[in-house]
Amino acid sequence: MRKRIILAIETSCDETAAAVIENGTKILASAVASSQELHKKTGGIIPETAAREQLRCMIPILRETLIQFCPENKNNLPKSLEKIDALAVTYGPGLIGSLLIGVETAKSLSYITKKPLIAINHLHGHILANWLEKKPHQFPSLPGVALIASGGHTELVLTQKKDNQLVFQWLGGTRDDAAGECFDKCARVLDMSYPGGPAIAKASEKVKDKEQFSLPRPMIHQKNLDFSFSGLKTAVVYKVRQLKKNKQWQQKTKNNLAWEIQEAISDVLVEKTIWAARKYQAKSILLGGGVTANQVLREKLKEKRQQFDLFIPPIKLCVDNAAMIGAAAYFIGQTTPWQEIKAEPGLKILHTAEV
Ligand code: KG4
Ligand code: ZN
Repeated sequence: MRKRIILAIETSCDETAAAVIENGTKILASAVASSQELHKKTGGIIPETAAREQLRCMIPILRETLIQFCPENKNNLPKSLEKIDALAVTYGPGLIGSLLIGVETAKSLSYITKKPLIAINHLHGHILANWLEKKPHQFPSLPGVALIASGGHTELVLTQKKDNQLVFQWLGGTRDDAAGECFDKCARVLDMSYPGGPAIAKASEKVKDKEQFSLPRPMIHQKNLDFSFSGLKTAVVYKVRQLKKNKQWQQKTKNNLAWEIQEAISDVLVEKTIWAARKYQAKSILLGGGVTANQVLREKLKEKRQQFDLFIPPIKLCVDNAAMIGAAAYFIGQTTPWQEIKAEPGLKILHTAEV
């Protein structure tokens, strides 16, 4: 039976998050702490740093969430826990050190409170973010093709309803770097700060007269649903080297190159997503993951989506959060005894699709 009120925890990468969700859709409380500022100093995520920050933030974030949920119990949080019907936690994929903090916290809570625990695949969470804050008649039209694009993932997932249940089929993903990783690595080559996506987007906005840079759109015309972004990063490295050698490395040039990087990544994501939607006769396209916060990507999809309905969560629900884990727990989760739950850094969505 579905659990009405769920307390969800998400710690798969560099965000520590908790949320309380009612009936899988209504966010009653939500808090997120990010260690991104620390990773700015190192130009990327150091797993050890992320895990230590998870440990430091977990209890304060849980406390903040429970206080938002029941302010009247501010000084008696166990009383707020009594109102919860189930707990949910992300058990993979992600960084092992980060995942363990959330998983072990959720298991301890389940043991102490005797509340059932639901273990959730982070990628399912990104898809179910599209159900949050919606009434049933506003839920995504299915079948849908979900594009999950973040620092660690570029995945296309077919989402269908069978026998009144949601089922997921992995259609394709990146063979090397994820789309967000490509943004981050290219930004580094351009001496821009971490995270690279927002830095590249900001620099692109400054472009007035476009210089004709032309970067590759890897695999864009290949009739499969795989991605590869490492070649694009290499092309940027060579371009920057050449520009520096020719003493043409100015701010304007840098912004122009940023613009072309954003165009190349978004062109590939849009083309493959629409191709997948057509191939699988989807009714909708669903977005999730930090890269889908990108405005150019969103605009391109709006422009090229053809007949497909487009579902784009608000930015705070595109990036990592626990509300989406609560939604996934409600709609697709199954209770597992806490003793049987283990963090799985390499967790996948079943690869059953024939392309
Ligand atoms: O989902 P997310 O917050 O964290 C995980 O990776 O799990 O995604 C972070 C990624 C980073 O690679 C970042 O550069 C990218 O999302 N990103 C963006 C934008 N905002 C964040 N990429 C392009 N445009 C953006 N506006
Ligand atoms: Zn994520």
